[in-house]
Amino acid sequence: MLDLQTIRNDFPILDQEVNGFPLVYLDNAASSQKPIQVIDAVANYYRHDNANVHRGVHKLSQRATDAYEGSRSKVRGFLNAKSDKEIIFVRGATEAINLIAQSFVRPKLNAGDEIVISHMEHHANIVPWQILCEQTGASLKIIPMTTAGELDLSTIDELLNDRTKILAVGHVSNALGTINPIKDLIKKAHAKDIPVLIDGAQAVPHMIVDVQDLECDFYVFSGHKMFAPTGIGALYGKQDLLEAMPPWQGGGDMILSVSFEHTQYNELPYKFEAGTPNIAGAIGMGAAIDYMQGLGIANLAQHEHALLVAATEKVTALDGVQIIGTAKQKASVLSFMIEGVHPHDVGTIFDQQGVAIRTGHHCAQPVMQFFGIPATARASFAFYNTMEEVDALVDGIKKVQELFA
Ligand code: ALA
Repeated sequence: MLDLQTIRNDFPILDQEVNGFPLVYLDNAASSQKPIQVIDAVANYYRHDNANVHRGVHKLSQRATDAYEGSRSKVRGFLNAKSDKEIIFVRGATEAINLIAQSFVRPKLNAGDEIVISHMEHHANIVPWQILCEQTGASLKIIPMTTAGELDLSTIDELLNDRTKILAVGHVSNALGTINPIKDLIKKAHAKDIPVLIDGAQAVPHMIVDVQDLECDFYVFSGHKMFAPTGIGALYGKQDLLEAMPPWQGGGDMILSVSFEHTQYNELPYKFEAGTPNIAGAIGMGAAIDYMQGLGIANLAQHEHALLVAATEKVTALDGVQIIGTAKQKASVLSFMIEGVHPHDVGTIFDQQGVAIRTGHHCAQPVMQFFGIPATARASFAFYNTMEEVDALVDGIKKVQELFA
């Protein structure tokens, strides 16, 4: 059992009123809140240790480097990767996918080749591949989905074929909450020697991820959705694949030596970290991992699941409300439509009650196109949310219905 009051005390932002009501923050899939442990780790770095990493013999630079590299080890442990060399710090999941598209896939892509993604991807796992297709003449193939918001795998054996150069799929859908059967997909792709990238942005805040167990080739996530600062995230890649890839960006820190005749690139993971990195962000992300692991990620997942189940039952019982995304396996997300009311109006009325939800297409427009809707209202839970906040969600829906009756 989580001690929710103690946990909530760690998140100072939650203790405020919005429009005269206690804040109910249910927009965690867009960005989660940060505990004081993360805020303090960032502030402590700037207050005591601020210096560049890997570059100075002086004490501050050594401390900054130790903290930065310490966070890399924490990410390695968090994902159960084999080596720190397999962890690249990036701006977020978006940057990581662009890196893989350009550095891993592009060199081996020819006109006529194919990239397979799914219908429920976030734009970050669609557009980098479209850019790559425009650059090379390759084409994008889409795993379809069902009206429940689950992947329809009936054609997967044809979709994955000898033209496929990568399968890139989300672990958890940000618009629907669906947890995809990625382990099975990875197995199917590997049986045909197709490498697999998993977009874990919506998964790592909610469940234990083990890249060795999954056997995925690449796994990417953003820090800001898992209680860490914005502008930091991580790319996991199998060491042999990363070793064989050319650098993505050139600059300082990614080199061993430079002359006008020849530049020798640095070893992993630095080969992919050109320029001064987001040192404070990486340190904050390490603190976020400590925080989650301190509470026990399995405990967090269990509590969130209870919130989602309760919210789903209560919202299903209401007339005039449709849940978008009814997959059997879901995490955190409850997307819904209230009959006769545009989701943006829903969001505004919720805000007037102090309840923060996201409305819109959630950067997943193909999902909206599939359901024939412009947008949804989306509540998304984190472990600091309470059953009373589930009730606030339900009351918010009733309020909207009263106002529009
Ligand atoms: N990808 C973020 C979301 O789902 C922004 O809201």
